[in-house]
Amino acid sequence: MIGEETMAEAAQRGTAVPDEEALVIFQNQWDVYRKFLQHDYLSNGVACSVLQRFLADDIARPFHFIDLACGDASGIAKVMRDAPVESYLGVDLSAPALALAADNLAAVNAPVTLTEADFSTVLQGLEQPADIVWISLSLHHLETDGKLEFMRGVKRALAPQGVFLAYEPTCRDGETRPAYLERFDEICRREWTALTAHEYAEAIHHVRTCDLQETATQWLELGREAGFTSAEELYCSPDDLFRLFLYRH
Ligand SMILES: C[S@@+](CC[C@H](N)C(=O)[O-])C[C@H]1O[C@@H](n2cnc3c(N)ncnc32)[C@H](O)[C@@H]1O
Repeated sequence: MIGEETMAEAAQRGTAVPDEEALVIFQNQWDVYRKFLQHDYLSNGVACSVLQRFLADDIARPFHFIDLACGDASGIAKVMRDAPVESYLGVDLSAPALALAADNLAAVNAPVTLTEADFSTVLQGLEQPADIVWISLSLHHLETDGKLEFMRGVKRALAPQGVFLAYEPTCRDGETRPAYLERFDEICRREWTALTAHEYAEAIHHVRTCDLQETATQWLELGREAGFTSAEELYCSPDDLFRLFLYRH
């Protein structure tokens, strides 16, 4: 785990990855991901605004926040800057992403900790219960059983009034993964005009081979099965490819 005093070391690692090929891969992929953020192609910017409203209207008290698979934290940093956050913990496997996150979170008026770790296991060693656990565009990499196990861990890590929010790719009820992927490809091929043909081919290959979407009903049921007292949908992206779910402890 790296605390504030060692963020400079993380930033240093970000510019000095020993394996040059890994750095090139990160830079290429991150340059493409930056385009997604810039144009909000995945609507995760809007999802952060929905989170911001939820924190103000529903939580309305100071909170300890955990951001799993935080990436560069560029969207969430805007939310944290204006919220009564008591602490922010960001977790990601990528040191260069955490170095960018450190910069983006510099204006947050609370202790910020960035941890280079796997989001699916990091909560096991948590010392302090969290009020809010947030994950965006990453939980879908786990199989259904893994998602359930992970959600059980989130429930254990939360304070009694705590909540878990997940913004993830979501099939319509009754829609199979192949049908979702066809719809995804049709929409995104048309909309993601800032990507080169090669970048688009790589992005859709990743979605087709790595992403394990659930239907809206399955996402909700997983939360209930994990022990959350309620599960509800807070937001659906305009293209109906991604949804934000709220689970209460
Ligand atoms: C699509 S980005 C999402 C970043 C951010 N949550 C957002 O919504 O913009 C996925 C991020 O998950 C991270 N990641 C992937 N697998 C992970 C894992 N098992 N544990 C921690 N981070 C992981 C990647 O390094 C990357 O930063």
